[in-house]
Amino acid sequence: MTNVLVVGGAGYIGSHMVAILLKQGFRVTVFDNLSRGHKDACEGAHFIQGNLLDFAAISGCLSAQSFDIVFHFAALAYVGESVKHPEQYYQNNVVGSVNLLAAMRKHKLNRLVFSSTCATYGEAKHLPIRETDPQVPVNPYGFSKFVVEHMLSDYAKAYGFQSISLRYFNSAGCDPLGALGERHEPETHLIPLVLREALRTKLGGHSKDTALQIFGDDYDTPDGSCQRDYVHVNDLCDAHLLAAQQLLTNDDGQAKYYNLANAVAYSVFDVVSACRRLTGQPIEYRIEPRRSGDPAVLIGDAQQAIKELGWKPHRTQLDDMISSAWNYLSKGA
Ligand SMILES: NC(=O)c1ccc[n+]([C@@H]2O[C@H](COP(=O)([O-])OP(=O)(O)OC[C@H]3O[C@@H](n4cnc5c(N)ncnc54)[C@H](O)[C@@H]3O)[C@@H](O)[C@H]2O)c1
Repeated sequence: MTNVLVVGGAGYIGSHMVAILLKQGFRVTVFDNLSRGHKDACEGAHFIQGNLLDFAAISGCLSAQSFDIVFHFAALAYVGESVKHPEQYYQNNVVGSVNLLAAMRKHKLNRLVFSSTCATYGEAKHLPIRETDPQVPVNPYGFSKFVVEHMLSDYAKAYGFQSISLRYFNSAGCDPLGALGERHEPETHLIPLVLREALRTKLGGHSKDTALQIFGDDYDTPDGSCQRDYVHVNDLCDAHLLAAQQLLTNDDGQAKYYNLANAVAYSVFDVVSACRRLTGQPIEYRIEPRRSGDPAVLIGDAQQAIKELGWKPHRTQLDDMISSAWNYLSKGA
């Protein structure tokens, strides 16, 4: 039985991955400090509460069992927070990854799937963004991931350490059965924020008292709001499984990089309209000034993942992503 370690497996994407790995018959251990995650989101996996900033803790976890591969989801992942607190981001995301890689080398484990991001590209020169396009991150979060990607490339050259970095565009949606969802506190992602506002109104809140903020309606886009490319969380997890299969069957000693995207742009106002239609709630919002570090448009080309990993995203409609997230949120209300 393949034995996998999921670092950051108690978070939103990690917990969906854990559920899929368990369903596929993998033996799964989660290592998470619960700073942003929930232990009850990874039921069925062996759980170790530990911090990547504690080298002895991650090294001890790797010495206790012989793992075949590691999935690394653990990071702080809010663009705005990273602009306000860059030190925290470089500490957690870069130093944490340095510790993980050093511990993996110490225990002769050299297969890693890494959660990277479209935020490593910064402002795109042309769209959709391809893997070969320049990476010029415009916020500390994106930069912290860019540094780790570089480390992985250097590790491949020096040590034959094999990795696949998956550059996700915006993850959205939830497990279709409604058992798992996005439980960030504070929440900063658009779809759950808009749906929380819908739920508040549904439960009797006045729509004019809205707390929903939209940052910038004066971007150079058709409706003035930012545009993003949304990918269903389960499609992201499918790509991780394919990446793991490639790493487990191929000893090429390389670091590889793939976009995970649908190449479709939805604006903030598109998301609000779709949420209004799907929830039947009015959903009011306030326009605030642009947020520093937010590129106007991010859409990606995932042809390389489709060709080389055999990835086939199945849940590409925004409505499906919103409906599954609404199903999860309204179930818990
Ligand atoms: N959500 C998105 O749209 C998106 C897009 C691109 C990339 N990503 C990347 O995907 C990964 C998962 O994102 P998410 O939305 O599930 O985030 P999340 O915050 O829900 O999950 C991250 C998990 O990592 C854990 N963690 C953080 N720092 C840790 C540390 N030092 N030691 C141990 N555990 C630690 C947290 O407790 C949490 O459970 C992140 O690396 C993020 O940068 C996410």
